[in-house]
Parts: sequence; structure tokens; C-alpha cells
Amino acid sequence: MAAEKWLFPIISVSFVTVLLFLSAISGFTASSAFFSRLPDPAYVLHGRRHPPSFAYYISGARGDGRRMLRLLLAVYHPRNRYLLHLSHDAPESERAALASATKLAVPAIRAFGNVDVVGKAGAMTYMGPSGLAATLNAAAVLLRLDKGWDWFVTLTAEDYPLVTQDDLIHVFSSMPRDLNFIDHTSDLGWKESQRVQPIIVDAGIYLSKRSQYFQASERRKTPDSFKFFTGSPWVILSRSFLEYCILGWDNLPRMLLLYFTNVILSQEAYFQSVVCNSVEFHNKTVNNDLRYMEWDNPPQMEPLFLNHSHFEKMCASGVPFSRKFREDDAVLDSIDEQILHRKYHWVTPGAWCSGKRSWFSDPCSQWKNVNSVRPGPHAEKFEVLMKRLLEQWKSGSNSCRL
Ligand SMILES: *[C@@H]1O[C@H](CO)[C@@H](O)[C@H](O)[C@H]1NC(C)=O
Ligand SMILES: *[C@@H]1O[C@H](CO)[C@@H](O)[C@H](O)[C@H]1NC(C)=O
Repeated sequence: MAAEKWLFPIISVSFVTVLLFLSAISGFTASSAFFSRLPDPAYVLHGRRHPPSFAYYISGARGDGRRMLRLLLAVYHPRNRYLLHLSHDAPESERAALASATKLAVPAIRAFGNVDVVGKAGAMTYMGPSGLAATLNAAAVLLRLDKGWDWFVTLTAEDYPLVTQDDLIHVFSSMPRDLNFIDHTSDLGWKESQRVQPIIVDAGIYLSKRSQYFQASERRKTPDSFKFFTGSPWVILSRSFLEYCILGWDNLPRMLLLYFTNVILSQEAYFQSVVCNSVEFHNKTVNNDLRYMEWDNPPQMEPLFLNHSHFEKMCASGVPFSRKFREDDAVLDSIDEQILHRKYHWVTPGAWCSGKRSWFSDPCSQWKNVNSVRPGPHAEKFEVLMKRLLEQWKSGSNSCRL
């Protein structure tokens, strides 16, 4: 099946790596060599006195397995946690291939055990609320799996990073850990009649193999018991805000969830509306999604596909993530080469990698201290951007304005 074919180069690459490794340590038995490389779980240190870490939720649809793997390798760091979700339109074989490829591709992923693939996939109707349900489910799973992470980042198969994880961890080290990065506005404009007032039903929620929605002929009034905010569906959320949404006692997140079940594109409004209507979190939100996107003029529903003509601007922006890309577009190779210093089947190297680098040996097949980072040149532009956003946030001029 086509879905599994992409697995073979990875198996053969890691097989060769294992052989080279074993031949390099003749004198040890294979098993003791393997176990001696397993880190002590306490090796990854979390908490205020240590660098922050991230929980990534990477989603995709049928045929996206291969690029989800590429994205995972590009954003991998042993300190982070990863959850991959291939929606239910993808065959089981593609999901299984993705799960085994993540383990086979990188020794660190096997050793740190910090990557999971959702086994029981759900629907992800883009226009309907099933995508939001999948995101909330992923956040709940990640809260449960790992007590250490500080921020939840949503990515899709069409996204790619513009900084290394060392850069990201370094820059976020000086951020208050309860800050959320959510692009939002209460100025609804044309969206009021086309997004807020229509009532929709998402078949993906109650039929096992549907990802469609239908619209009721009735419309409803724009709510007045809370303020409706809308914005980009791509978010970076603090752990404390997600605990509030998922585990909290305050009823606002659940009340809004019931309301948003029948709102078109609820992913562009749910977190925006919850954060800005909550007393506790409305002033802990930076009005920015930290994604680089290019829009047509006039803007269409989706941003333009990025290519080489955008490379210089992307690099200069200081923004840590970008979207959207076609599979294996040549500009991704430039990002790998010039920004991430990553080879195709390897993870993005960082200060944690202690192996020797050569054409056949991945420096990240061995590691030392994973609790220190070494930022590169792209961290500087990112830092400038974050300082500016932090100033805006402190002045209170730009967040949750009615
Ligand atoms: C946020 O709001 C709370 C209560 O409304 C207030 O006590 C706190 O000082 C505010 N923080 C900032 C940074 O504005
Ligand atoms: C790159 O994207 C721009 C804007 O979307 C487009 O005008 C241009 O034709 C694209 N170039 C290539 C080589 O695809």
C-alpha cells in the first residue's frame, strides 16, 4: 500500500545507523549497549528554575503521515511532548506506519518515549466543531500524560518551524509561563452575519464516518451574555489556561463549548471567547498567533502556499512558525539547511546532541544534558519580536479589547 512505502527509507537508514553503532562499540553486547543509552526519567528537569517545555499537537488527514513525520523531526526536542493525530479518514495502515516510523526514525524518541500517535482517531470537520473537540481531547491527553510541559502548541501537517527548539526554549525562558498567544478581535465585521449567526450541525460528531456539516435555515442573534471574539485557529496556550478549560470548576468554558457546538468555524472563536470573557485570563493573552502566513488580496479563507519567493521575508520576520506549505516544497529544504541545520531523516540538532556529526552519523543519536539550550542566530530576531509583543501586552492596549 502506498501509505507504507515511505516507511522503508527510514527503516533502512536507522538499520544502517544501528549497525554502524554496534560495530563501533564491539566489546559490548547489543542489549547492554541499548539499555545503557536509556536516560533516567529524572534527566529531563521541569519547573520554574528550568527551561520551559512544549506540548505539541500535530494533526493531519489522509495522506499526511509522511509530512507529519518530517514536521515532528523538525520540532523534536527531548524536553517536549508530542501527540500526533491522523483523522479518521486516514486508513489504519497509515496510522500504524506513522507510529512505527516515529519510533524507528530516532533513537532519542525511543529512549525518551515522548511521542504518541492517537490510536482511536476522531473526525476533524474543518468548518464544524469536531476539529475543536479533537484539539480539546489532545490537550486533555497531554495534560494527563505529562506533568512537566508549560505551553500547548497546535500545528498541522501544512506547518513548519522557522526557529530551532533551542531558540524557542531560550526565548520562552524569559516569558511569564501563564501567557497565552491567541490572535483575536471582537470586531466581527462581515463575520457577524456569515459566522456568528448561522446555526450548523457537524455530522462528524455523531456519525462514525462523516466529516460534513449542514446548516439550519434559522439564524440566531449575536450573543449578549458574553462577548464573541474571533481570530486565528492556531494557538499557543499556557498550561494553566488549559487546566481552566478542561479541569476547572468555573462553568464559562463548558457553557461556551455548548454554544460553539453549533457555530461555524468554532476553532476560530472558542479559545478567543473563553480567554477574553474570563476574569482570570483576559489579561494574560498576547494578541498574536506567532505564525507566519501570506494572504491573497483580498484575503481568501485560507492563506497562500508559501514558496521560495517568501523565504527572505519569512527569515526576517522572527516569527517561530509558518504555514502553509505544499508537501516537500523546495523551500522546506532551505529551511532545513539554513535555519534548522537538519538532514532529511534526522531531528533538528541542539545543545543536547553529543554525537559526532558526519555524513552518516546523526549527532543526536547520542546525548548529554537535555536541560540546557544553545540559541542560534534566528533566536535574536524572534527575541526582538517577543519583546515588542510583551510591551504591547503590558500596556494592555491590544488584548481582549471590546
Ligand atoms: C489582571 O487582572 C487582574 C484582575 O482583574 C489584576 O489583579 C491584575 O493586576 C491584572 N494583571 C495585569 C498584568 O494587568
Ligand atoms: C510562489 O507564491 C507566489 C504567491 O503565492 C506565487 O505568485 C508564485 O507564483 C509562487 N511561485 C512558485 C515558483 O510557485
